[in-house]
Amino acid sequence: MAATPATPARARILVLGRPGSGKGTQCTRLATILAVPHISTGDLLRATVARDTPLGRMLKGYLDTGELVPDDLVVDVVADHLADDPTNGFVLDGFPRTVAQAEQLVELLAPDELDLAIDLAVSPGVARARLLRRLVCGDCGRPTGPQSGETDAQCGECGGLLATRLDDEASTISRRLALHEELTEPLIAWLDAKGLLVRIDAEGPADEVAARAAAAVTRVAAAPA
Ligand code: AP5
Repeated sequence: MAATPATPARARILVLGRPGSGKGTQCTRLATILAVPHISTGDLLRATVARDTPLGRMLKGYLDTGELVPDDLVVDVVADHLADDPTNGFVLDGFPRTVAQAEQLVELLAPDELDLAIDLAVSPGVARARLLRRLVCGDCGRPTGPQSGETDAQCGECGGLLATRLDDEASTISRRLALHEELTEPLIAWLDAKGLLVRIDAEGPADEVAARAAAAVTRVAAAPA
């Protein structure tokens, strides 16, 4: 089978970064710019947990404590999601997180290839401070915080109730940040060695970060059909 050329509508982008680096915030915008689906493994896993099945109850243990879900399980979740049309593009948010997941993703996509991996670079201190103040809409899932100016408990976009995520508790945040160093930093080096990585400064206002991310995908969006 011949590889499907990368066009804006088929851009295959990974977005990585520490917990709290702004992956969810930026992926929503990038997916809109590129007109491709935003696929967040965190959101997919939380949706499974909410269904309260035996699988959901098992996954809840990982998510609530900040542990990574085993590679094979999370790869299955992504594979199911891509199965409808694996040649379509995507912005993958929070997947892969280990070299083993990346190797399985590459096999899943072959002969198509990844176009770009964006690492949203923030210091651990900035990431922690953002997570400690984060609120998430229970209806639309949008993350927000004091920087948005939303002061009451209602989502400014859909009116849903804003709440703190269970894993945004100080010791769980520490565990999530430690797992990023241990398992995802080697993946970032792996992607860099393959010439796929662009690291952007993800501190400063979200609009400025979004402009840097949009510039990073220009080379994919500009690719001939
Ligand atoms: P997931 O939901 O992906 O969590 P995460 O990686 O810890 O990342 P977060 O969602 O916490 O942060 P974010 O980078 O998206 O930042 P956000 O935009 O919200 O995964 C949850 C769990 O699922 C994992 O712990 C694991 O158990 C499991 N899991 C998921 N994928 C997995 C995988 N591949 N393998 C195994 N397990 C997996 O922003 C954070 C806050 O900052 C918000 O309040 C936002 O409004 C604010 N903010 C954003 N940008 C800015 C800015 N520029 N300036 C100021 N504030 C900002």
